[in-house]
Amino acid sequence: MTRLTDEWKIVAQVGDIDEEDVMQFDCGNRTFAVYNTEQGYFATDGLCTHEDQHLADGLVIDDVIECPLHQGRFHIPTGKAMSAPVCVDLKTYPVQVSDGKIYIRVD
Ligand code: FES
Repeated sequence: MTRLTDEWKIVAQVGDIDEEDVMQFDCGNRTFAVYNTEQGYFATDGLCTHEDQHLADGLVIDDVIECPLHQGRFHIPTGKAMSAPVCVDLKTYPVQVSDGKIYIRVD
């Protein structure tokens, strides 16, 4: 397990994010999307790279997030843009679960 430095922020308790769901997490003036998938927890930038729509309002389908505005899709673990109109990848962030809490490392 990685040591939890100040860069690690508590997002939620385990169980707060349903399976195949996504939660918005705001920190300072930034927003993130934190996902609970069959492969585990992941975090990406919270705004779609197409027109800044909140991805936490989107649909998680296996390991893909579909943006609610124009249905562009990203691969959650890598942030890769998968289908038009999105063509710019999302940044991803490390996630760790410790003592029943979900942390992400923001930089
Ligand atoms: S804002 Fe996300 S696909 Fe257009």
